[in-house]
Amino acid sequence: MSIQANIHSPIGVFDSGYGGLTVFRSIATALPQYDYIYLGDNGRAPYGNRSYETVHQYTLECVEWFFNMGCQLVILACNTASAKALRTIQQKDLPLIAPDKRVLGVIRPTAEVIGQYTKSRSVGVLGTKGTINSHSYNIEINKFFPDIKVHSLACPMWVPLVENNEYHSAGADYFVKKYLDQLLAKAPDIDTILLACTHYPLLIDKIKQFLASNISIVAQGEIVAQSLKDYLFRHKELEALISRESKMHFYTTDDVNDFNEHASTFFGRKVNSEHVHL
Ligand code: DGL
Repeated sequence: MSIQANIHSPIGVFDSGYGGLTVFRSIATALPQYDYIYLGDNGRAPYGNRSYETVHQYTLECVEWFFNMGCQLVILACNTASAKALRTIQQKDLPLIAPDKRVLGVIRPTAEVIGQYTKSRSVGVLGTKGTINSHSYNIEINKFFPDIKVHSLACPMWVPLVENNEYHSAGADYFVKKYLDQLLAKAPDIDTILLACTHYPLLIDKIKQFLASNISIVAQGEIVAQSLKDYLFRHKELEALISRESKMHFYTTDDVNDFNEHASTFFGRKVNSEHVHL
């Protein structure tokens, strides 16, 4: 395994579908020297409403696929998978299946820095039902910033709006306003709103339209990219194993044409994917 890894050991970037490409876009911009493979489990997406058991099972299968592809490090660029599967994978699965490999998520890096954005110490977190019901953000943010009040809300219509290319429509206006009103009704002193779902950055223009200009909107891409940069600086042994030819490969568990068509919206440039059967 380590011989293969030394020849070609890309960083693995995982999402339930296309959304993780918004995070991958920032990672690839910040760290262009490395090789990457991206896997979207589109065939089984969305993960947002699925149980802990199912999200764990699907995510673990994908993580094992990345390891078989030579990855030493996998980023779960999906909030739902980070909320519902990461801890079990890190604590129970990795010691048994791959003790030298690493799997990281997007929640902790975001929680670590959110305190820099808020003055009122009242933060709104928007995500899928799975992410919000897990309370992962409340727990992680309060570990780093016990003084911050976290108000979270699930926005179950936002992912389907983005996935179905309706994010510029009047229907999107309705659902964006609806959830923002609900969130601010809970706590009018919120001055920072975290978009804790990989799809939501595509709605950012609409979100801005319905918010007062003193409320900061925080998307995760650049935060996760900076955190990965710091992590690799601190873990030089792992960093030395990652291959550096600036190559990117994209895989999907569903239809490649469909993936390619949608993916460019999230990634900002043309994507050619390959099908993978897990
Ligand atoms: N990528 C997921 C997230 O960030 C949203 C899509 C899904 O529900 O699978 O939570």
